[in-house]
Amino acid sequence: MKLAFTLLSLYALLKVCLCFHEIPHMLVLGIAKRELMKNDMEIYNITAKYFDTFSSSGIDSIPTTSYEENAVWSDDIKSYGDAQKAMGMWHFIGNLDSNPYNLTLYKDPMADSENALNAYANIVKTLTNKNFVGKITEFKVSMLKMLVHLVGDIHMPHHTGTYYNKTFEKEKGKGIYSGDKGGNKQNILYYPQTGKKQKTNIHFYFDSSCFFYTWTSRLVRPLNQSFTNYFEIELERIMTQYPKESLNINYTQTFDDWAEESWNIALTEIYPFLMQKNVIRYQDAFYNSSFNMIQQRIVIAGYRLAYTLQNIFAAEKGKIDLTTPLSYEKQQKTIIVYNNQMPLSNSISTEYHSDKAMAVIFGVLFGLTLVSYIAFMIYFRMTYSAMKSQNRISSEYLNTKNGTMQKIPSTEQNNEHKA
Ligand SMILES: *[C@@H]1O[C@H](CO)[C@@H](O)[C@H](O)[C@H]1NC(C)=O
Ligand SMILES: *[C@@H]1O[C@H](CO)[C@@H](O)[C@H](O)[C@H]1NC(C)=O
Ligand SMILES: *[C@@H]1O[C@H](CO)[C@@H](O)[C@H](O)[C@H]1NC(C)=O
Ligand SMILES: *[C@@H]1O[C@H](CO)[C@@H](O)[C@H](O)[C@H]1NC(C)=O
Ligand SMILES: *[C@@H]1O[C@H](CO)[C@@H](O)[C@H](O)[C@H]1NC(C)=O
Ligand SMILES: *[C@@H]1O[C@H](CO)[C@@H](O)[C@H](O)[C@H]1NC(C)=O
Repeated sequence: MKLAFTLLSLYALLKVCLCFHEIPHMLVLGIAKRELMKNDMEIYNITAKYFDTFSSSGIDSIPTTSYEENAVWSDDIKSYGDAQKAMGMWHFIGNLDSNPYNLTLYKDPMADSENALNAYANIVKTLTNKNFVGKITEFKVSMLKMLVHLVGDIHMPHHTGTYYNKTFEKEKGKGIYSGDKGGNKQNILYYPQTGKKQKTNIHFYFDSSCFFYTWTSRLVRPLNQSFTNYFEIELERIMTQYPKESLNINYTQTFDDWAEESWNIALTEIYPFLMQKNVIRYQDAFYNSSFNMIQQRIVIAGYRLAYTLQNIFAAEKGKIDLTTPLSYEKQQKTIIVYNNQMPLSNSISTEYHSDKAMAVIFGVLFGLTLVSYIAFMIYFRMTYSAMKSQNRISSEYLNTKNGTMQKIPSTEQNNEHKA
């Protein structure tokens, strides 16, 4: 079931790739998390509490084992397809154009209302609505998951506009143009360091951070220990490479400013290149500058997300009960020691829902075995207590039973060793 769903969402993502890949999204939230833990622990606690509420195991929410995994929910729900088309359009701005040749444009009629700018403004209104301060509602939880995702998406230049020229016609010869759809129609050839050249498009190139986070090495959620380790090391790397002090964060900028900044990058740094070429090679001049740009966008988005969450949830301080532990903390998956070095991780016990279910099943079986054993003993004593031969059989039976029962703890230990 879980596998089927993972495959389903993978297929959905491949089909409509209008999103940063999952690792960039998780990095954005991971940076925000570290920043909040450093500057405003209560806001971190509040947001963690939100994420942890209503997040156990719905069809569209792969169980989370960490704070950061919540950044990908908005992509997971894309498997609903047209059933949530409006929210699908929240990931980008479909009504911002560059139309230098004054062509007749075809645009999705919904794009004026359903876009990242309107969505973000309404999400903030929802999360700060006076009537719900201090109340963790299902709607607010969903909107928070949307928000942490959209802040990432809006830092990707090709999520903020569409370029129109005669190449991108809606139907051949009709004189109506649908544009490059946020770079999705802008085909490129990418030559990686090793392996075959890739026929792809510029949107995909940036969503994957220049093929740095590839589909073959992607994370499978819920994260197991190796993926958690990989993620923590990558988070440490990107934050070290782009230190906060070097980013000149302007704390009065708004979501609209970030979007405008992104579109300016597209117009000044990406389209001039595309007018000349559609071939990119690993570590050529465009690769180097675009890789640096997009990695930096991920880090900036993380710091901006942190101050955004501080502003949005300021009014909830002291109003949310933070005393009960988070469900994934109860599982005590990892201990990670930062101290400015690569994280050390201790594999204690990686316990996922399936393991929990197994434990419950074993528990029930153990209980049933015990009860039937006692019932059998009572029945046996009442009926056959006088017959010695039967007594021998009973002790053999008992030995077998004990053997079965002893298997229970040893199976659990095996599970631990595997994890
Ligand atoms: C945040 O949560 C942790 C763990 O539940 C707790 O130890 C700490 O006191 C909390 N801090 C604040 C400021 O809420
Ligand atoms: C497109 O329209 C603008 C404003 O109406 C005009 O300044 C510009 O020259 C036009 N561009 C072309 C290529 O016709
Ligand atoms: C985590 O999952 C990946 C792929 O599914 C697998 O290659 C890896 O061995 C797993 N790690 C652990 C510790 O289970
Ligand atoms: C910060 O951003 C605001 C809003 O865009 C702008 O008005 C202000 O000039 C910026 N400050 C600096 C120092 O760039
Ligand atoms: C349209 O722009 C793309 C770059 O975005 C370029 O590759 C293509 O040649 C242009 N088409 C025309 C007809 O100018
Ligand atoms: C791109 O960066 C790599 C690694 O820093 C460097 O070796 C290479 O020369 C750079 N490419 C160009 C065209 O400057």
